[in-house]
Amino acid sequence: MQVIRSIAELRAWRRSAGRVAFVPTMGNLHAGHLALVAEARQRADTVVVSIFVNRLQFGQGEDFDAYPRTFDADCAKLEAGGVDVLFFPDERELYPRIKQDFNVEPPHIQNELCGAFRPGHFRGVATVVSKLFNIVQPDLACFGKKDYQQLHVIRAMVDDLNMPIDIVPVDTGRADDGLALSSRNGYLSADERAEAPRLYRNLAAIRDALLAGDSNYAALEKTACDDLAAHGWRVDYVEIRQADSLEIAHVGEPRLVVLAAARLGKTRLIDNIEVTR
Ligand code: PAJ
Repeated sequence: MQVIRSIAELRAWRRSAGRVAFVPTMGNLHAGHLALVAEARQRADTVVVSIFVNRLQFGQGEDFDAYPRTFDADCAKLEAGGVDVLFFPDERELYPRIKQDFNVEPPHIQNELCGAFRPGHFRGVATVVSKLFNIVQPDLACFGKKDYQQLHVIRAMVDDLNMPIDIVPVDTGRADDGLALSSRNGYLSADERAEAPRLYRNLAAIRDALLAGDSNYAALEKTACDDLAAHGWRVDYVEIRQADSLEIAHVGEPRLVVLAAARLGKTRLIDNIEVTR
């Protein structure tokens, strides 16, 4: 595997690379990321992964400085996963003028769900992903359903801005007890780690109720919020939305997604489950 740190070198390499699949990450790689790499590997001649902890998508008081940086372990995993190129720019390479004056501004959905609690987050994500797309120029890019709203924003960006890139969604990788794999799980204490699967269990309970014909969305959301709060969580939201648009779901909607974000101690966890009736 080649590690490329400069944009100029990456672009020179790209001209000779054939059909390229791309997996953008912030590193601290786990089996969820590696499932994206495996999907990419199947779909193209050449696989590029990026590791860049993107300051632009972190708010004041969020975990930018604490975010785990594990370059050597990540390299070993990417080598084993058959990755051809790791793009690993430093901040000056990607943000040479420090400030990013031009930004990719997502539509109103950026202010809902996670966006309501992380102002500017999805602008930061859309902007860096668009920069990475311009640099890597992939034919396709893989994104995890774990970050469902992010996947939605990227798909909308690619459609609206005519970026010639296929966006490939990949199912959420989970631990045996259901907890969605996340770099932030490493922040959890042993007690919090034992409690953490409750988030998924509540989403699964809502899914089962929806599949059984329950359509009182507000009551289902409240039951989950109450259960989490009773066990020490601070809930940002539990919401049932339309799967394709992420708009408010009406009764009878056939394709739904149940999304949640909640804090356990100092760790913010997110998860979601799709429900097709
Ligand atoms: P990061 O959190 O490192 O995630 C990189 C990719 O891995 C994203 O597409 C994410 O959805 C996917 N992923 C994370 N956990 C997963 C899991 N348990 N199962 C399946 N896929 C999973 O998301 C980002 O980085 C950044 O916002 C980024 C897109 C790189 C822009 O900075």
